Amino acid sequence: MAYYCSFKPSLLFLLFLLTATAQARNSITTHLHFFFHEKYSSPNATAIAVVNSTTSNPRGFGSIWVIDDELREGSSIDSKLIGRAQAMVPVVSLSGPPAFLVLVDFFFTDGKFNGSSLMVLGRATLEGATERSIIGGTGKFRMARGYTINTFLSGAPEGRAIAEYDAYIVH
Ligand SMILES: *[C@@H]1O[C@H](CO)[C@@H](O)[C@H](O)[C@H]1NC(C)=O
Ligand SMILES: *[C@@H]1O[C@H](CO)[C@@H](O)[C@H](O)[C@H]1NC(C)=O
Repeated sequence: MAYYCSFKPSLLFLLFLLTATAQARNSITTHLHFFFHEKYSSPNATAIAVVNSTTSNPRGFGSIWVIDDELREGSSIDSKLIGRAQAMVPVVSLSGPPAFLVLVDFFFTDGKFNGSSLMVLGRATLEGATERSIIGGTGKFRMARGYTINTFLSGAPEGRAIAEYDAYIVH
């Protein structure tokens, strides 16, 4: 009887281990490298402030942006369009350099991952490298996890912001 009791959980544990191993073996890691292009001035701005709190807080704490930015293969504004970055971006810093809490859907419209998307969540700043979590995905990126790292480039054309992105996706 004592033997039977200890055997049962071990068998369950073994099954769990086998399932977990099978899942780990099936997942692959994809590295994507692309550029994010935002036009924040009119006309045809791809980013708008839907809540502008600069009258009550000069630093813009509490402002909320909605963006429909372009993902392109390169840093040039006429390089190949490969998707959109559609996001909600509140300003979350009371003081210091501006910080944002970005909830963004990267939706790919070209190439191998056309029709697939990544959901990325995390804090962002305009200076230095920013790392954020990939919390899910659709299409070829179903069940995705991983991270993105991005840096804004200096010397972007007037009214534009351009960032270089690397995404490491386990899916
Ligand atoms: C704005 O978009 C319209 C329609 O796509 C286009 O005709 C126009 O050239 C654009 N203007 C600028 C400054 O990009
Ligand atoms: C991407 O997929 C859509 C929907 O299936 C299709 O209409 C479009 O032609 C594809 N684009 C490219 C560049 O393959």
